[in-house]
Amino acid sequence: MRIAATRALPGPAWDELDDVVVGERPDAEILIVMNEPVDFEAFPELRLVANFSVGYDRIDVDECRRRGIAVTNTPGVLDAAVADLTFALILAVRRRVVEGDARIRAGGWGGRDFQGREVTGATLAIVGLGRIGAAVARRAEGFDMRVLGVSSRNGDLEQVLREADVVSLHTPLSEATRGLISRERLALLRDGATLVNTARGAVVDEDALVDELESGRIGAGLDVFVHEPHVPERLRGLPNVVLTPHIASSTVETRAAMTRCVVDNVLAFARGEPLPTPVS
Ligand code: DGY
Repeated sequence: MRIAATRALPGPAWDELDDVVVGERPDAEILIVMNEPVDFEAFPELRLVANFSVGYDRIDVDECRRRGIAVTNTPGVLDAAVADLTFALILAVRRRVVEGDARIRAGGWGGRDFQGREVTGATLAIVGLGRIGAAVARRAEGFDMRVLGVSSRNGDLEQVLREADVVSLHTPLSEATRGLISRERLALLRDGATLVNTARGAVVDEDALVDELESGRIGAGLDVFVHEPHVPERLRGLPNVVLTPHIASSTVETRAAMTRCVVDNVLAFARGEPLPTPVS
């Protein structure tokens, strides 16, 4: 099979693929991407898009279906890594870890004004009840948190936002969830609340979020942004925000497992076997 990839993937499974071209390959039958849009005209012989990511919001799956192109993703293998980073952000924002580090590096110290917000015993709203949301809920048990789960489709999102000390987003980006956390809904968050987004930037009205954060009323831990790698300039100077560059699944172990999943799909496709993780 002729395989093209937009990048070489990390981990030993990658070496099991031969005949992969990283870059231009117009006759490719299989294209490996990382949630990137596919230029269908550039790949007229394409039959499989193997996505190195669980989210596939930037891939036109309907168009793939129309053209008879299969699409796969990497579900399940990154839940723990994303849930871990979610907790890293919750802790970093509420306990002001990055701010404390910056103070020391600048030659300063904490002082009496340096108080964070409790994590243990706080109320955590998990928006999106899939595998990653469940992994976050399991970790929250260890912190004696009160967990309120709400799906993006059903449930009283407004009430949950009003009650939570921490809101963590775990919903895929779709037309239904774009802008789900709107300016009006952000205004429902209680003073001192923490919003954590390790899902997709566009699930939140980013301008409205920056306004709220500038006011100092809430804090946020953000791993994802609307126009990555662009990060709104206004966020950079804010002490109540912790920013990471879309690294929730980026550990050596998880990225190797994601590559294993991509390679398993490619090999199954090449053998004419059922795909292990097709996008439905
Ligand atoms: C995913 O798999 O969707 C992640 O966002 C990639 O890091």
